[in-house]
Amino acid sequence: MSNSTSLPQSVTIKEMGPRDGLQNEVQISTEDKVLLVDQLSQTGLSYIEVGSFVSPKWVPQMADSKQVFERIQRQSGICYSALTPNLQGLEAAIEAKANEVAIFTSASETFCQRNINCSIEESIKRFVPVVDKAKQLGIPVRAYLSCIVDCPYDGSTDPQQVRSVAKQLQDLGCYEISLGDTIGAGTPLRVARMLEAVMKDVDSGKLAVHFHDTYGQALANIYQALHMGIATIDSSIGGLGGCPYAKGASGNVATEEVLYLCKGLGIETGVDLKKVIEISWIINQVLGRKPTSKVALAYGQK
Ligand code: HMG
Ligand code: MG
Repeated sequence: MSNSTSLPQSVTIKEMGPRDGLQNEVQISTEDKVLLVDQLSQTGLSYIEVGSFVSPKWVPQMADSKQVFERIQRQSGICYSALTPNLQGLEAAIEAKANEVAIFTSASETFCQRNINCSIEESIKRFVPVVDKAKQLGIPVRAYLSCIVDCPYDGSTDPQQVRSVAKQLQDLGCYEISLGDTIGAGTPLRVARMLEAVMKDVDSGKLAVHFHDTYGQALANIYQALHMGIATIDSSIGGLGGCPYAKGASGNVATEEVLYLCKGLGIETGVDLKKVIEISWIINQVLGRKPTSKVALAYGQK
C-alpha cells in the first residue's frame, strides 16, 4: 500500500520546547535554556522557538529570553524565532536578532482577554503595525491562533469563527497560521471539521497544527491533519509545558512522538529521533522528573 496520494512526503517540525514548553514549567536557569537550544540545534531541526518577548509580569519564565538569544550558538539554516504580542515585543525581538517573530491571538474571546488582555478585534488592530514593521525589515511573521476547537472559558469554538480569524491573520500578511488546540481536548473529527472550514480561505500550505496533548489525542489529530495536506507540525521536546492561561492543559505533543509517527509513515522530517530522545531525558532531568512521552520512555535513557 502506498501513502503517496494522501500523506505529505516530508513535514517540517517546529520545535516549541524552549518557549511553549518552558513558559509553563518551573523556572530553570538561563544556562540550561541555552544548553537546550544548542542541543536542539544539533538534531536536524530547522525551526526553534527560543523564547518570548512578553510582559515578565504575565510570564516570568520567559523574562530572560534576551539573554538566551544572546548566548545561543546559532547554526546556519536554523530559524530561531520569538513570540511577540505587540510592538514593544517586536522591538525586543529585533534587538535580540530573532530570525522570525510570531504574533498570537485566539478564536475565542475570553481566552484572548485572559492571555493578551484585549479582544480579538483589538488584537488584530494591535498586530497591524507589528506586521508592517517586521515586513519593512524583512522579518517573516508567523501567527498562532488559539482555542481552535475548545476554549477553557467559552466552551467549544465554532469552526466558522476559526476560519474568520485565520483569514484575518492571513490578510494581515502572516506567512503561516498555526492552529492551536490550546487545551488539547480536540479529537480527529472535530479537527477535520475545523480544518475543512479554515481551508476554504487559507491554503493548507499556509497552515500548521499545534496540538497540546492533555487528552492524549494529539497524534491522532496530527494524523488527521496530515491526511488533509498539512505539512507543518509544532511540537515540544519531551512534551514540556502547558499554557499559563489554560489551567490544567498539558504541554504540546512531544517532538519524539511526532518523529516516531512520521518515521512509521515514511514521512521525511530530517530530524534525528535518537538525539531528540536523549535531549528529552536531559531536559526532564533538569526539571527533576522522567519524560512523560511514551517514545522517550520506551527507548530509555542512554
Ligand atoms: P497589558 O498589561 O495590557 O500591556 O498586557 P500594556 O501595554 O498596558 O503594558 C503594561 C506593562 O507591560 C507595561 O509595564 C509595559 O511596559 C509592559 P509597566 O509600565 O507596568 O512596568 N509590557 C511589556 N513588557 C515586556 N514585553 C512586552 C510588553 N508589552 C507590555 N512585549 C500583554 C498586554 C500582551 C503585554 C500581556 O498580556 C502579555 O505579555 N501577555 C503574554 C501572555 C503569554 O505570553 N501567554 C503565553 C503565550 S501564548 C500561548 O502559549 C499559546 C500558543 O502556544 C498557541 C496555543 O497553544 O494555543 C501560542
Ligand atoms: Mg501552545
